Amino acid sequence: MAYRHRIGRRYNPPQNELSYTENFLYMLDRLSEENYKPNPKLSKALDVLFILHADHELNCSTAAMRHIGSSLVDPYSAVAGSAAALYGPLHGGANEAVLRMLEEIGSIDKVPLFLEQVKDRKRKLFGFGHRVYKNYDPRAKIIRKIAYEVFEVCGQESLIDVAIELERIALQDEYFVKRKLYPNVDFYSGLIYKAMGFPTDMFPVLFAIPRIAGWLAHWKESLEDKESKICRPRQVYVGPRVRSYVPLELRETSDNNINTKVEHPFSKRSLVATFDNKDPTLSKL
Ligand code: CMC
Repeated sequence: MAYRHRIGRRYNPPQNELSYTENFLYMLDRLSEENYKPNPKLSKALDVLFILHADHELNCSTAAMRHIGSSLVDPYSAVAGSAAALYGPLHGGANEAVLRMLEEIGSIDKVPLFLEQVKDRKRKLFGFGHRVYKNYDPRAKIIRKIAYEVFEVCGQESLIDVAIELERIALQDEYFVKRKLYPNVDFYSGLIYKAMGFPTDMFPVLFAIPRIAGWLAHWKESLEDKESKICRPRQVYVGPRVRSYVPLELRETSDNNINTKVEHPFSKRSLVATFDNKDPTLSKL
């Protein structure tokens, strides 16, 4: 519905005779056609992707779901918190970050330079590495195969060549081999979503939709567990014992300090607007 709202179209109610992923595509794409049926290869591809993304143990967002749910908040609020955790580029936001990275690299000949920057710690190779897997993510293998099935229907996505070259060189490079860095679930999924015509900023949404099944299963399981209590990790303080108060103006600043100052400049629209007490110099800017 958010997608339909964004493209300025009316909402399509789901159809009883369609499967989950057929309905998903139907609700996104049907305009006013009669008997609209999404392409079966695309609904099948989404089915596989959604199953692979549905659950994956206690990853960051699922742990967040259990954590938030432990306060007995309603499931909608807990899902909102989990979706926020998923959206980060080290987690489910990686599928979007991979695509932006591939677009920036642009062509196969730029791959070696990009990987040098990764090894110099100037860049991150999104879609590589996993907190738990220290081998090739089995989901990535299946997703790579699905990519070609989708390309048969939607046309080849040219950035696939850049992705394959990145994978080929990285898997032979000592930096990645030594650290056991392999493609993860997010490495190829963005290319499939791009080939299917989804907007890039919707990729994390396409991760969240199936993952809600996993989040809710964990939420239910944790509430049914009679031993379950509110999550309240303890913290071990290891800092200095006594610290005297330093007034703000006497505190030393360093480049590492996080700048929390928020600028509120006049917008272009405000510069040309009329309002009381307007500083006459503003309109000359
Ligand atoms: N690119 C370059 N170097 C990396 C990468 C990467 N993607 N991942 C890990 N490293 C290096 C890291 O710099 C460290 O090097 P050193 O030992 O010299 O300091 C070493 O490998 C170990 O890294 P780590 O940070 O201890 O690894 P981790 O297991 O804590 O991190 C990760 C896991 C997924 C956050 C990380 O691999 C990463 O940032 N990957 C890129 C983002 C990404 O693709 N995320 C999707 C994860 S899978 C599905 C999901 O959750 O959505």
